[in-house]
Amino acid sequence: MGNGIAHVFAQSGYSISLIDRFEATLEKAIATISKNLDQMVQKEKITENDKESALNNITTFTSTEEGVQHADLIVEAATENFEIKKKIFELIDIHSPEHTILATNTSSISITKIAAVTNRPDKVIGMHFMNPVPIMKLIEVIRGYTTSDETTSIIMEMSKKLKKVSVEVNDYPGFVANRILMPMINEAITTLHEGVGSVEEIDTVMKLGMAHPMGPLQLADFIGLDVCLSIMNVLYEGFGNSKYAPCPLLINMVTAGYLGAKTGEGFYKYTVGSKNLVVSKMFT
Ligand SMILES: NC(=O)c1ccc[n+]([C@@H]2O[C@H](COP(=O)([O-])OP(=O)(O)OC[C@H]3O[C@@H](n4cnc5c(N)ncnc54)[C@H](O)[C@@H]3O)[C@@H](O)[C@H]2O)c1
Repeated sequence: MGNGIAHVFAQSGYSISLIDRFEATLEKAIATISKNLDQMVQKEKITENDKESALNNITTFTSTEEGVQHADLIVEAATENFEIKKKIFELIDIHSPEHTILATNTSSISITKIAAVTNRPDKVIGMHFMNPVPIMKLIEVIRGYTTSDETTSIIMEMSKKLKKVSVEVNDYPGFVANRILMPMINEAITTLHEGVGSVEEIDTVMKLGMAHPMGPLQLADFIGLDVCLSIMNVLYEGFGNSKYAPCPLLINMVTAGYLGAKTGEGFYKYTVGSKNLVVSKMFT
């Protein structure tokens, strides 16, 4: 997600510091951004010059302290884990200028809880980009309990400069996007678990019957089954309502390491280096 976010800011003319713990991850990120920009040049959406200036707008850092020193806005997109985000927000609160807005791309962690670890809770906000970031139009902008009107309006205005459509929502578990999407995915997994239909049948019903571009089980594979499980747990614990209990099949698959496309197998099998899907025999 980090490389996609850097891509859209750099393409809109902003000077970007792209930070990761690992040099290799940064190199891979720049290669991905370059490849994605090449595709845009081939489709004549941008020129070769646009591509070069977007790439020139990005500087990479493995030191967070150094990377955030002159930032006006920081968009954190590290691993979805509160303890990791807590450490990052404590660090960037110390090392970034006083006026800097601290945004997070979290899919499910409370913005209010993240804001509370900083000394500027009024300047902490959710900027939930969708995957793949350069293509998807939406930014779900999440106001924490302490986020100020000023911070919110700066981010809503900035989203327009990124040529995105932003929607402002309040900070409750799952916000809007995942509060609706994840229970649907969880229900699709329960439908499979109960033997109502096979993987292909369930996905076909939702694709052809509901005009979804992708079936819920394939989408779960692309999001990552571990991510789906962790968001269901946030909803379950946050609302204390059994309707959000994660399906036992989802729990089993995550425990067994079947996390979807990133591990090569989830509800479908993924051949290495190819986007082609091979339907898994496990559930058919
Ligand atoms: N994957 C999606 O479809 C998606 C969609 C919307 C939002 N998100 C959110 O975006 C965030 C990132 O998701 P992802 O799928 O890109 O995760 P990822 O695990 O693929 O990438 C996270 C990156 O953060 C880096 N990182 C971890 N700790 C760090 C630290 N202390 N300092 C610097 N870098 C650090 C890791 O090296 C890794 O490169 C999460 O909060 C996730 O919920 C993901």
